[in-house]
Amino acid sequence: MTVTPAARPEVVTVGDADELGRRAADIVSEFVEAEPRGVLGVATGSSPEPLWAELVRRRRDGLRTDGLTLVALDEYVGLPAGHPESYRTFVRDRVAAPLGVDDDRVVVPDGTSADLLAATRAAEVHERRIADLGGVGLQIVGIGANGHLGFNEPGSPFRSLSRVVELADRTRLDNARYFGGDPRAVPSRAITQGLSTIMSARHVLLVVRGRTKAVALDAALHGPVTESLPASLLQWHPRVTIIADREALGAS
Ligand code: PGA
Repeated sequence: MTVTPAARPEVVTVGDADELGRRAADIVSEFVEAEPRGVLGVATGSSPEPLWAELVRRRRDGLRTDGLTLVALDEYVGLPAGHPESYRTFVRDRVAAPLGVDDDRVVVPDGTSADLLAATRAAEVHERRIADLGGVGLQIVGIGANGHLGFNEPGSPFRSLSRVVELADRTRLDNARYFGGDPRAVPSRAITQGLSTIMSARHVLLVVRGRTKAVALDAALHGPVTESLPASLLQWHPRVTIIADREALGAS
């Protein structure tokens, strides 16, 4: 079977983190101006950090971000409420509060119970809340060094919805820096939006920094669309913008 990509993703190359922040903020600003009460999908990794900083600056200059609803891409399973590395904490403290978004418009899966059944229910609730909101308007994502999207690790089904997943060893290793350098301290499970959920967003903004992402990004952009590299699925999304630094685009 031959499948023709829906549209080539637009790729914006940036020289440094500040430029990445500005270019990504241009897209978010355009979205907020068109839809002041829109649904923004939030990724929690390090790559979008310059974007949050730039949006806070623009809010000070009058950009109205306080009407947005923020929807998280994923959350660890088993971290207690208020844990500094929980994504609820990140989205609330690092994104929602500085952008003036009230807590009741912050939608993060409830990963506080380590019980698998409770986490499974929380994932279903997340999927339903996204549907009830009418879907995500603009979804910000990063890419893992192994090509994951959200916490959809290699092998994740394209048709997947929000669910509980096991984290790949590579992901726990990459995220160990947030847990005192110990990969075993990184939770082994997470709740993530599914690949199908991410693909339902109307516009996907992928932000990528650093040469550790170069191989995965090159494969996602130019390789076959395959479940063994989840980010390659973006080739089939009708509207994707990729903002990446030269290091990340090094292999392209
Ligand atoms: P990063 O990670 O934003 O820290 O680069 C993204 C990811 O692993 O999905």
